[in-house]
Amino acid sequence: MSTAMPAFEHDIKDLSLAPQGKRRIDWAEREMPVLRLIRERFAAEQPLKGLRLVACAHITTETANLARALQAGGAESLLIASNPLSTQDDVAASLVADCGIPVFAMKGESTDTYRRHVLTALEFAPDVIIDDGSDVVATLIKEKPGHTKNIVGTTEETTTGIVRLKAMQTAGVLTFPSIAVNNAQTKHFFDNRYGTGQSTLDGIIRATNILLAGRTLVVVGYGWCGKGVALRGRGMGANVVVTEVDPIKAVEAVMDGFRVMPISSAAAIGDIFVTVTGNRHVIDGQHFTVMKDGAIVCNSGHFDLELNLVALREMSEAPVQVRPFVEEYKTNKGRRIIVLGEGRLINLAAAEGHPASVMDMSFANQALSVEYLVKNKGKLDPGVHLLPPEVDQDIASLTLRAL
Ligand SMILES: NC(=O)c1ccc[n+]([C@@H]2O[C@H](COP(=O)([O-])OP(=O)(O)OC[C@H]3O[C@@H](n4cnc5c(N)ncnc54)[C@H](O)[C@@H]3O)[C@@H](O)[C@H]2O)c1
Repeated sequence: MSTAMPAFEHDIKDLSLAPQGKRRIDWAEREMPVLRLIRERFAAEQPLKGLRLVACAHITTETANLARALQAGGAESLLIASNPLSTQDDVAASLVADCGIPVFAMKGESTDTYRRHVLTALEFAPDVIIDDGSDVVATLIKEKPGHTKNIVGTTEETTTGIVRLKAMQTAGVLTFPSIAVNNAQTKHFFDNRYGTGQSTLDGIIRATNILLAGRTLVVVGYGWCGKGVALRGRGMGANVVVTEVDPIKAVEAVMDGFRVMPISSAAAIGDIFVTVTGNRHVIDGQHFTVMKDGAIVCNSGHFDLELNLVALREMSEAPVQVRPFVEEYKTNKGRRIIVLGEGRLINLAAAEGHPASVMDMSFANQALSVEYLVKNKGKLDPGVHLLPPEVDQDIASLTLRAL
């Protein structure tokens, strides 16, 4: 592992928020029994002793508990945000003040600051990178190829990040092993489906205080996240319409009892739209032109590319912020289109992300993936790997016991 490095400071909003952050982190910890067991074992066994670790993640109470578990195992970590709008500033403050972990993240940071933080993370010379969306790994490979030789491996939290890693693997530039945490069953079956399902609606409701019952909710994409949003939307009394480009998933949505149609038809009838595809411009200019007056549009996919907001801006007057995370665009047809959270992950922009009990399984996978990389240092081929299936089974059994 790497030797002595200069101390890294931090770049957060307000250190005085630490006591509130600590209370919230401790509250989340009550709902994370599996991670707690891992933390206790890590504290006793020190499997990460001397490891330099960068985590690019949503800076939430759950991530703070992951950071505390990694620290207990002996890792020296630096944290940055994986999205400019998802940081909880009190959590960032507590990580710095109470745990001595350098954090570079502020809610609402600019794209330039976000990028500066990614570069700072690479200056930390990590042995292991926990990534969420593959921004750190992509920057490392493109801009700092000299730094890749120290990398023991990386872990990836989300679907979109794994799509990017596989593209790097195909291009022959992924020179180290990467664990696809998202692809563990105890991750995407639960986090993507039930976590995104609940927290996306939570974000929409906190931002707008809208009643979902009786509204037409259009869910764009019927993958793991889309299934969760559609299921929970129906549970709240919405009339759910699904749009999906994969015919197999579209049939699945029909058999799950949803109306399925192309976005070109759904655009005119929806009251609320949620995109969860990982794909670009799935709601595009021509769709905005036919939407109802007052239609609400948001995204819960990883990047803020799913809504073509450039096209919407071109056909509208300057947007007016009507509530926090709610912007109203008046189009040249005189209609109002309401965009939530600037088209960024609405569950993290306007709410607190997934509840802790679902992140317990995701972050148990993260902690065990880091340990697996360290134990198998030098033995894994470069490329995308899964954790062994028995780890999934163990996490599920422990969760079941806790529930
Ligand atoms: N908000 C969160 O907290 C959160 C949590 C987990 C994952 N994610 C992100 O959400 C996105 C979706 O993740 P997932 O695990 O559901 O992926 P997935 O691959 O299971 O599902 C995506 C679905 O979108 C469909 N799709 C693609 N383009 C489309 C289009 N133009 N119109 C309609 N459907 C289209 C695909 O066919 C696929 O079925 C990813 O970007 C992922 O990184 C967000």
